[in-house]
Amino acid sequence: MLNTPQQWTPENTLPALEPGWIHVWLVRNTPPVIDEEAALQRLASNERERAQRFTHDGARWQFITARACLRLLLNGYLDRRDGDPIPFAIGSHGKPYIPGAGAYGELRFNVAHSGPWAVIAVTAGREVGVDIEHPRRKANFAGLAKRFFQPSETEPLVALDDGPEQAAAFYRLWTRKEAFVKGLGSGVPSGLRGLEVDGAPGCADALMGYERDPGAETRWRVAALPELPEPPADIAEALGLTGAVGQGAVAAEGRDWRVACYQWPNGEFSP
Ligand SMILES: CC(C)(COP(=O)(O)OP(=O)(O)OC[C@H]1O[C@@H](n2cnc3c(N)ncnc32)[C@H](O)[C@@H]1OP(=O)(O)O)[C@@H](O)C(=O)NCCC(=O)NCCS
Repeated sequence: MLNTPQQWTPENTLPALEPGWIHVWLVRNTPPVIDEEAALQRLASNERERAQRFTHDGARWQFITARACLRLLLNGYLDRRDGDPIPFAIGSHGKPYIPGAGAYGELRFNVAHSGPWAVIAVTAGREVGVDIEHPRRKANFAGLAKRFFQPSETEPLVALDDGPEQAAAFYRLWTRKEAFVKGLGSGVPSGLRGLEVDGAPGCADALMGYERDPGAETRWRVAALPELPEPPADIAEALGLTGAVGQGAVAAEGRDWRVACYQWPNGEFSP
């Protein structure tokens, strides 16, 4: 049976990544779950250089925290905890991946950031994409939906009042589409418009069709992630969040996979 978990399970040991499973980790970067020195030590030298080029502290922390946690997870899953960072290659539209064959090349991952959160999806032997979004103030969600979404998706959304529910409905659709194009590796410029998804809360099988790839819905599956936890009120205020609930989705090749959702602990954790 197709599953999508209802909540993020706090976890402070690394569960085994069994065949057919996708692990999605929720990581807090404000305040970060890992201190700067420890995080920087985990990065490859080109990643440390990239970190130095960020001029905005928040964006820098988003990158450093997620990348260090990604490195810790990948080394943990590959049982090489004290090893150097595994070299990444970059796809033609910017998707990082582990090149090569064997256990390393089989491991696939994808990352997304939004506000105080990052998510890291890891699986083996199938492409994977993930996306999260925290609603923000003052967006014209009805206008954006009309511009980017299918009529079947837009109609129920514009019927909602302009408020947190409409924002959540918008981001359910958006994250399902973006997770899918991130799974493909093509990214948003490939066009979200010909992509149709089911926006129902908690949907485990949301991909309905993609006009650029007929039958994609028989080869891929897109599942909702649990809603994101509310950040503390002062952080929500500083980041301009509405109080509406953040949404997320994971997409992967095949239809037979299962997903487990874990929350990175606040204290010591070295997977
Ligand atoms: C990928 C993309 C959807 C990310 O959107 P976003 O909302 O800004 O960012 P998110 O938080 O969801 O995801 C960022 C992460 O996605 C990953 N990523 C980057 N490009 C990706 C791609 N094409 N497909 C999948 N994942 C990608 C990276 O890991 C990145 O995080 P990192 O830089 O910290 O490692 C968007 O940037 C895009 O469409 N890129 C494609 C651009 C393109 O086609 N360029 C062509 C020339 S390179």
